[in-house]
Amino acid sequence: MESAKSIDELQNFNFEIKKIFDDAQDFLPIMGTDYIELYVGNAKQSAHYYKTAFGFQSEAYAGLETGRKDIASYVLKQGKIRIVLTTSMIKGGDISKHVDNHGDAVKIIALHVEDATIAFNETVKRGAKPYLQPTKEEDKNGTIIKSGIYTYGETVHLFIERKNYSGVFLPGYRKWDSHYNPKNIGLKYIDHVVGNVDWDEMNIWCKFYQEVMGFAQIISFDDKDISTEYTALMSKVMSNGNGRIKFPINEPADGLKKSQIEEYLDFYNGPGVQHLALATDNIAETVKEMKERGVEFLYVPETYYDDLLERVGKIDEDLNTLKEHGILIDRDEEGYLLQIFTKPILDRPTMFFEIIQRKGAQSFGKGNFKALFSAIEREQKNRGTL
Ligand code: FE2
Repeated sequence: MESAKSIDELQNFNFEIKKIFDDAQDFLPIMGTDYIELYVGNAKQSAHYYKTAFGFQSEAYAGLETGRKDIASYVLKQGKIRIVLTTSMIKGGDISKHVDNHGDAVKIIALHVEDATIAFNETVKRGAKPYLQPTKEEDKNGTIIKSGIYTYGETVHLFIERKNYSGVFLPGYRKWDSHYNPKNIGLKYIDHVVGNVDWDEMNIWCKFYQEVMGFAQIISFDDKDISTEYTALMSKVMSNGNGRIKFPINEPADGLKKSQIEEYLDFYNGPGVQHLALATDNIAETVKEMKERGVEFLYVPETYYDDLLERVGKIDEDLNTLKEHGILIDRDEEGYLLQIFTKPILDRPTMFFEIIQRKGAQSFGKGNFKALFSAIEREQKNRGTL
């Protein structure tokens, strides 16, 4: 485990971070994540789950009542996080095939941009595979321009230009009023979105984010950082120029037994989104609430906390509360962070969530990887897939 850094090391570190962001080219200015859309088998019931278990609020709806005979789509919101759940109501078609292939899964990582036509042209010019040509959509609330490109697997990035739109979500959606409104649980924004890619493809996709989208690599972990006796993976974190969008990319690495990334690839049938990290200002309260509402978290062995304070130094939180909930803590040069991972939220061991609270730290919990993966391996063993 890493100890405190010297002043020199700290200055070097800050210099490197600054240089990385200077190197990130801003031909693709992104204001933030606009929404995450999942294609699911039953959007109505999924929406109920996200409201009940995660405290998302009813925001917008499209379906039969709004003139859509092919899909039903529910938009949920909490803080700045917008999740869209879409299901198909017709036989065949892209949504049904996506669900058949991957199970309920993230299809769209939508990015809020100033100009969706420029975003499309600049990325396609640099080699992106087009998904949606710049398309204008309008209703009485104004105009949206959307465009899109493919990223890893069947996942896509949509660019959303909404400066001339004042409606609740997108044209075609209406406000969704519901009598059922469980309290929000303090989730604020999407901290990062992690993709799992195939063997030896991590660098290909990092290069894609660098060259096609102008991102820079801010962190890398190799299999020595992230391995246990049995399983291994490698990971690099790509960030856009203003640091609002962070995409870690994982690939499996050889271990004695099956990597958790390989297990994901097997059940997902290829690369896709592994987890969404959602930020809170009070992780103990958020996690307590989620547990009461039935969300299951990865088990963290009690021994993890034995040498914790030696490892991370002084923290503001009560250690017993963190221990009670299995919240992990890690420190870097700039501060510390608290994080916890849910079990997969689907029957297939594919997608899960991370809840994260940053107290200065801008990293991703490197010191927790080993403790965490030992915990994940126990779960894999229970599923008979280790
Ligand atoms: Fe994460």
